[in-house]
Amino acid sequence: MARTFPDGFTWGTATASYQVEGAVAEDGRTPSIWDTFSHTPGTVLDNTTGDVACDQYHRYPGDIALMKELGITAYRFSVAWPRIVPAPDGHINQAGLDHYSRLVDALLEAGIAPVLTLYHWDLPQYLQDAGGWPNREVAYRFADYAAAVAQALGDRVSMWTTLNEPWCAANLGYGEGVHAPGWHDHPAALAAAHHLNVAHGLGAQAVRSVLPDAKVSVTLNLHAVKPASDDPDDIEAAARIRRVGNDIWLLPMLEGRYDEQLLTDTAHVSDWAFVQDGDLAQIRQPLAALGVNYYFTSYARHIPGSVTPTREQAAASPWVGSWPGAETVDFLPPEPPLTAMGWNQEPQALTDLLVGVAKRYPGLDLIVTENGAAFDDTVSTDGLVHDPLRVAYLREHIEAVGRALDAGAPVTGYFVWSLLDNFEWALGNSRRFGIIRTDYETQERIWKDSGRWYQQLATTNRLPD
Ligand code: FCB
Repeated sequence: MARTFPDGFTWGTATASYQVEGAVAEDGRTPSIWDTFSHTPGTVLDNTTGDVACDQYHRYPGDIALMKELGITAYRFSVAWPRIVPAPDGHINQAGLDHYSRLVDALLEAGIAPVLTLYHWDLPQYLQDAGGWPNREVAYRFADYAAAVAQALGDRVSMWTTLNEPWCAANLGYGEGVHAPGWHDHPAALAAAHHLNVAHGLGAQAVRSVLPDAKVSVTLNLHAVKPASDDPDDIEAAARIRRVGNDIWLLPMLEGRYDEQLLTDTAHVSDWAFVQDGDLAQIRQPLAALGVNYYFTSYARHIPGSVTPTREQAAASPWVGSWPGAETVDFLPPEPPLTAMGWNQEPQALTDLLVGVAKRYPGLDLIVTENGAAFDDTVSTDGLVHDPLRVAYLREHIEAVGRALDAGAPVTGYFVWSLLDNFEWALGNSRRFGIIRTDYETQERIWKDSGRWYQQLATTNRLPD
């Protein structure tokens, strides 16, 4: 029997501003850290930038028509902060707000609910020049920006998501240096993490101060991490990754605390003096839903013979490739079949992740806000893209969401990453995640089989064969 989903289950697609919009210098937008980073030689694999990307800033009516054809009921997109608050003086740029107002109206017109993310990594460059996320001030500026967007778009937005994957913003951006702004600084990454938590709390309150009934959420890339063996050292390795990768967000946001063990794990990196009185109460805000992004599973291993560095050693080394508080941990090479990202495929881990979070936080709705796969697609002689590997990935992972529902996890929606092939951060245009292809030369949108498959799912609420 084909699996069906509950009535009213949300089927959506997701994108992010810098990955799709282009139009980086239009209507008063100023540079973000991703403009600076992608224009720095050697940072993006194929030397592409988001200058044009999918040109969705101009082409959103056509893209919305595609979404309507797909039959989806929600579009998850993000707002580019430097379009709204383009300068350090904090003035609000009406032209930037007007763009999103038109986008939201066009979505509603098409019967598609706008699911808006306030921060999907495009920090205004002037705020980075002032220190970036390691500077607490940025969290206050985020709240001002959130209030301005809430004021302008009001109750036309169905769901407000404060942050997307703060782990990537903090760790990949300030710790490992593979994302903008490209720092290799573990203490700064921890400070950034805390300030992102504060920004979440202040941003949620700012949205609700304008729109008391607003539905507010946050999206986390919860790491599905397992121990590489049943050796106690490997079990502890996985636990360390969970503490610094997952609990660093979940605990303050949902329980108003940090795990003492996380502070101990990272004591050689930071004394956490950046946590001020009252912060944890500010961070813990009622959430209408938790967004979970899931792509792959990793296997953590204790590096034989390794010991946690001393404070002096930690200060002297950027520890590239490791996570703060987990310098003794590495990951097993992923087991094939891999996607074009080099990620493994383990759908059952998505079930386990959703069921695990549901047990830990009963009553909290869950939404899969990103899931999908990159493969090296080509256009066939019939002018279409036949992508059986992506169809199989989606089928297996959506079936895994169904199993989580069977087990009682309150999952209310699923957003495929992504509507379109787009600018995949440090990998540029070289990795294609879309269920519709972007021809970067002509900006033509080309249907993939996965798009047609998703259309069948979205329009019938039943997993196609
Ligand atoms: C996630 C990001 C998203 C996209 C996917 C592939 O980490 O949130 O923007 O790049 O990965």
